[in-house]
Amino acid sequence: MDLSFVGKESGMNVLLIGGGGREHALAFKVAQSSLLDELYIAPGNPGTVRHGRNVDLDLNDHAKLRSFLKEKNIRIVVVGPEGPLVEGIHDRIADDPELEGRVTVIGPRKEGARLEGSKDFAKEFMFRHNIPTAAHRSFEKGQVKEALEHLKVMTPPYVIKADGLAGGKGVTITSDIREASSVVKDMLEGKSFGAAGERVVIEQFLNGLELSAFLITDGTSFKVLPAAKDYKRIGAGDTGPNTGGMGAVSPAPFADKDFMQKVHDRVMAPTIRGLRKDGIRYSGFLFIGLMNVNNEPYVIEFNVRLGDPETQAILPRLRSDLLDLFEGIATGTLSECHIDVDDRTAVTIVLASEGYPGRTGKGEPIGGLELVRDAYVFHAGTALKKDQLVTNGGRVLSVTAFGKDLEQAIASAYRSAGPIAYEGKYMRSDIGHDLVRTPGPKSGSVQKV
Ligand code: AMP
Ligand code: GLY
Repeated sequence: MDLSFVGKESGMNVLLIGGGGREHALAFKVAQSSLLDELYIAPGNPGTVRHGRNVDLDLNDHAKLRSFLKEKNIRIVVVGPEGPLVEGIHDRIADDPELEGRVTVIGPRKEGARLEGSKDFAKEFMFRHNIPTAAHRSFEKGQVKEALEHLKVMTPPYVIKADGLAGGKGVTITSDIREASSVVKDMLEGKSFGAAGERVVIEQFLNGLELSAFLITDGTSFKVLPAAKDYKRIGAGDTGPNTGGMGAVSPAPFADKDFMQKVHDRVMAPTIRGLRKDGIRYSGFLFIGLMNVNNEPYVIEFNVRLGDPETQAILPRLRSDLLDLFEGIATGTLSECHIDVDDRTAVTIVLASEGYPGRTGKGEPIGGLELVRDAYVFHAGTALKKDQLVTNGGRVLSVTAFGKDLEQAIASAYRSAGPIAYEGKYMRSDIGHDLVRTPGPKSGSVQKV
């Protein structure tokens, strides 16, 4: 193994994969590292160019990817989105004899990525390792009758999930048995979500406050990263369709020290132990979607990456050097790394284009960025037309501001997001408001199946 460029003394070259707000926040954080030499982002966006070089790289062309990694002497590949991980980019790089030992991928191998890639796999994993989650049953193609019978004995609301990746749209929660039955039928008959829906998970409804918890692991030890609350629905008051996320607050007041200790002991530690027990080598980030039900954590889902927009709220709070943590993964010494977090509250507001999460316009000039003070602006759906920054559809930008408490952080984030102007600008007006009103956990319940 060629170790000539290993070691903290020499600068590291990093390739970051992705081009959304999460990747802009990752680029911003990696660029702060004293260990960094060159940062490349594939494909990146107009915001990431401030922190590194955007490159056009076809990840599916492995020969090209290999030459890039060799030519640029890349030591760390950070994978932002789940897609390439579920497709096995880690395995391709790690098992390539020409790259062996040279490159560390931050993100799991294909087998570990199944925690996100298959809901059924994730549920079985949790069941096997005694990790608290909603009770469930899975049904396959050809089991429509059994699935519909099962719905009849359940108490509504019904929670129905397509097994595979469905771009965050594979979950239906409804109290209408007719709707529930037709969703199940369409999935199992391949009419919606294609192969991703040919297996369906029907689970118990959890009533509580939802939290996005994060850890980073080298497969043996793990470090807890700041947690956040995400605002998934498009409309104020949590109304309308689900989106990728319209805002985030970190920390979330209902995830206090006591609750996070339970998350550590009952969810995080057994998950990392379970992966090892099952012989699954897992390194990188793990995002655990949790429900706080009467102060008890229940896992809703695993994601094998960071969240968007949660990353834009949690990484500015992280004082530790992110590249130092990545180096800890590369050398299996993550346990020696230290996580230092800013105590202040960070609030992130997502600025989308009208029509999101459906079709949106593009090409609208964006102005007012120069008026933003005391806040970070992360790009997502932006593009450059000549020298003019324009919208490029969907979630356009996110704005993160700090406050010494939640109310101040909210005020500061809205003050900063206000002057940003483009045709069709849409943002939720109530990010964080529910947490100011109800700082403690609401009473919740776990409905019996
Ligand atoms: P998922 O794609 O599994 O994250 O589900 C999408 C959203 O549906 C979650 O973020 C939750 O808000 C909600 N959800 C999923 N499973 C449950 C459940 N068992 N009980 C209540 N809400 C759920
Ligand atoms: N904000 C939720 C996610 O990234 O999946």
